[in-house]
Amino acid sequence: MTEIRFEPKRLSDPTTLTADVLILPVGEGEQDAEWVRRVDRKLGGSLAKRIREAEFRGQEGKSLLERVHGDAGFRLVFLVGTGKPAERTLEGWRRAIAAGARAARGEGCRKAAVFFAKAGTDEIAAAAEAIDLSAYKFDRYRQPPKDEKPELASVVLASPQIDAKAVSAAVAQIRAVDQAVCFARDLVNEPPSILTATVLADRTVAMCKGSATKVEVMGPREIRRNRLNGLIAVNKGSIEEPRFLRMRYRPSGRSKIKVAVVGKGITFDSGGLSLKPAGAMETMKQDMAGAAAVCALMAAIGRVKPANVEVTGYVSSTDNLPSGSAQKPGDVIRYRNGKTVEVLNTDAEGRLVLADALILASEEKHDVIIDLATLTGACRIALGTRVAGIMGNQKELVDKLVKHGEDAGEMMWPLPLVREYRDDLKSPVADIKNVGGGFAGAITAGLFLQEFVTGAAWAHLDIAGPAFADKDWAYCPRGGTGYGVRTLIRYLTSL
Ligand code: BES
Ligand code: MN
Ligand code: ZN
Repeated sequence: MTEIRFEPKRLSDPTTLTADVLILPVGEGEQDAEWVRRVDRKLGGSLAKRIREAEFRGQEGKSLLERVHGDAGFRLVFLVGTGKPAERTLEGWRRAIAAGARAARGEGCRKAAVFFAKAGTDEIAAAAEAIDLSAYKFDRYRQPPKDEKPELASVVLASPQIDAKAVSAAVAQIRAVDQAVCFARDLVNEPPSILTATVLADRTVAMCKGSATKVEVMGPREIRRNRLNGLIAVNKGSIEEPRFLRMRYRPSGRSKIKVAVVGKGITFDSGGLSLKPAGAMETMKQDMAGAAAVCALMAAIGRVKPANVEVTGYVSSTDNLPSGSAQKPGDVIRYRNGKTVEVLNTDAEGRLVLADALILASEEKHDVIIDLATLTGACRIALGTRVAGIMGNQKELVDKLVKHGEDAGEMMWPLPLVREYRDDLKSPVADIKNVGGGFAGAITAGLFLQEFVTGAAWAHLDIAGPAFADKDWAYCPRGGTGYGVRTLIRYLTSL
């Protein structure tokens, strides 16, 4: 993550700030506020004129960049509309601040100051979050473009009511999470022949080092000994070794709730012998985004250290490739809990490797199990690239996650686990088969997973849409998004 220095400052007069750019979030109707007029006076009356000409009234999505002539302590003023104060959301706020940061970068600014006329600790922390996340770059494999602007080096967060201590603590916590989000993005963006299951495990061990999270890595022998037979079956086509990760965070006191988070870690999904067409394979390095989110989450949890919850992360990882040794349509997998699955389509591999993890998590007695997986193209078609599908066996859990997702700016929408569709999974030779009837692919995938969950409230997030951005948006550049990390941190720290 790019190192930006954040400095909270208590002050009521924005004109006393010095920086390259002064960023001013302005709510609807606040364009004539006393603090805006102060800046205008410092600029000799040019700002009020621009505000009138541009009909800027703090509308959401509207902004105004004013160049300063003469010496005002800053050379640019950027006004960004945050909409009606009563309708303000944390996410709208993030997007506004990200627009400010983008404008500042575009102008080659190194030092920015943001003046919040009215903002609480959460909103100021969200501003730091938006600046951090929008600064993300993945440029390990390319020359920087000649016209590339330098990254912001320091940002002053100024506000009249600021409690500098509380803000510093909130910013430090949110930055630990941002760092994890960027770690997840890196894992997804890394080319698939570099980021094998082994490398995914190694990087996670390194990332969790020095945190309160302990990582256990299982290789082929331990995987065989633990009869993680879904992972073994999918790995049969590969020349790479599989890895299964179990990551534990235990609070120092007695925890009240035990939560398991499970991630799909297919480092590349060719479809296996049920081969995908070329176009569909282009971005299939993203098929470990669920695992990336879980690994990143566990690294963050080990630093944030919530007091009331014990968290275990499970990741099942391999690539899915065709070869002479690959599993074949018609093969039957016998899972460690005795259940058998007929594999009719080797491209429905995610559910096969998740089943192992869901069985283990169920055996190890959790109150809540949450899985994240780039599971179905069907979910992406239904909800698009910005919204995850969420399914589960307990409405209360699903509602909570949807709400935390809203706060985090990670949208999710419930899909029903229609009991009638369970018949689509019937197999003539095994207990169930790994594909449904062709319709409602996201739901039949959810129903398949449900078969392996026992004794816990469970939610399944199908992140095939939002795990990967095909173009830049607000505070997320094209590529891996790190979707899920921020919602789950909010959920776990709320317990
Ligand atoms: N990894 C894919 C799902 C996917 C598609 C993720 C697009 C991200 C973007 C998954 O393993 C898959 O291939 N699912 C199949 C299931 C089918 C064979 C039942 C699908 O969705 O077509
Ligand atoms: Mn697949
Ligand atoms: Zn897949």
